[in-house]
Amino acid sequence: MEVTSTVKYVGADDLTLDLFESQYPIPHGVSYNSYVILDEDTTVMDTVDQRASEAWQKNLKEVLGETKPAYLVVSHLEPDHAANIGWFLKEYPDTTVLCSAKAKAMLPQFFELDGTEKVRTVAEGEEISIGSHTLQFFMAPMVHWPEVMVTYEKSEKILFSADGFGTFGALSENLPWIEEARRYYTNIVGKYASPVQQLLKKAATLDIACIAPLHGPVLREDLGYYIEKYQKWSTYTPEESGILLAYASIHGNTKKAALAFAKELEEAGEKVETIDLTRVHASYGIEKAFQYDRMILAACTYDGGLFPPMEDFLNHLKAKALTGRKVGLIENGSWGPMAAKKMREQIETMKGMEVIETQVTIRSTRKDADADAFHILAEAMKAD
Ligand SMILES: Cc1cc2nc3c(=O)[nH]c(=O)nc-3n(C[C@H](O)[C@H](O)[C@H](O)COP(=O)(O)O)c2cc1C
Ligand SMILES: [Fe+2]
Ligand SMILES: [Fe+2]
Repeated sequence: MEVTSTVKYVGADDLTLDLFESQYPIPHGVSYNSYVILDEDTTVMDTVDQRASEAWQKNLKEVLGETKPAYLVVSHLEPDHAANIGWFLKEYPDTTVLCSAKAKAMLPQFFELDGTEKVRTVAEGEEISIGSHTLQFFMAPMVHWPEVMVTYEKSEKILFSADGFGTFGALSENLPWIEEARRYYTNIVGKYASPVQQLLKKAATLDIACIAPLHGPVLREDLGYYIEKYQKWSTYTPEESGILLAYASIHGNTKKAALAFAKELEEAGEKVETIDLTRVHASYGIEKAFQYDRMILAACTYDGGLFPPMEDFLNHLKAKALTGRKVGLIENGSWGPMAAKKMREQIETMKGMEVIETQVTIRSTRKDADADAFHILAEAMKAD
């Protein structure tokens, strides 16, 4: 596959992995991207996950033919990209690895090196000419690992953006970018807002025609759209006015109440998206929590505390350091409702969250008499 006539895609799709990073469901798979820049000093941009070794090695050999690559650029040492470095250095012992100083220090943690490997660290802004192409390196520490760097190829204006701008979904699935890119960003990189901001500031100084990430499609058109999304996500700015209504119900009554309330909010003109936290992984809720400016959480009381699927969602939410959202609470309890108190305690540990004072308590099932309480919550949840 061609990125340009001299830049080839040699990555591979993975449609059989169940959980990315042993945590995130990927119903449409994922791609591990790797590229070859053909030039006087042919350069390979990253390797791939061990699950894709065979396909990648085949693609690589096809593109390289008899050529021995001069450089292997290592943007990121996470094993979904770096797993084949060991193989590569045995296969091409004369290739020089180009990476950040931090990556060089971490390399022996992942691979038993015999000391003959050539590893050259590159500095911020450093340029290396490989013929008609020139690579320029920019450090991206903590996006989302400390050793990450991105590479800008000056002649064709390609930004090799590491995990940045990446998305779940195998290339063969041809998914729309936005949903899975948002789920990827918010869950995997979401916590690292300020490092991402630093990187975006560097990227803003470059004339970029194409973004080549380590997962998902190469982005060529309307790059402003993608950059604007990253601007929003990395400043925790909601993309739109709307409410995520995330619920966790045991026997279905909290769910029923939550869905009825969602309908009422919609009838009042709100955009609402509901998520069943007992059936859908928390990462989908995190994605929506970033997208919208408000959220309502509805959960059962369980063994004197909070029903675990909601607890799990809140743990994820806290870990991503989301801020600046208005939050409403609905609880259910059959003998001693505690869920709202527990949810409030958790959200109040987060910076900049506004938890609506009046919460709704239902006892086992929603009754007609509860209508007023829901109405009060709906009013309080209106966008500011
Ligand atoms: C295993 C289990 C433990 C529960 N623990 C409590 C509790 O400690 N306090 C309470 O008020 N309700 C408790 N409940 C009741 C639920 O909070 C809730 O009222 C009931 O399950 C109805 O809501 P649902 O249909 O959405 O599950 C428990 C329910 C179950 C099944
Ligand atoms: Fe990564
Ligand atoms: Fe990755």
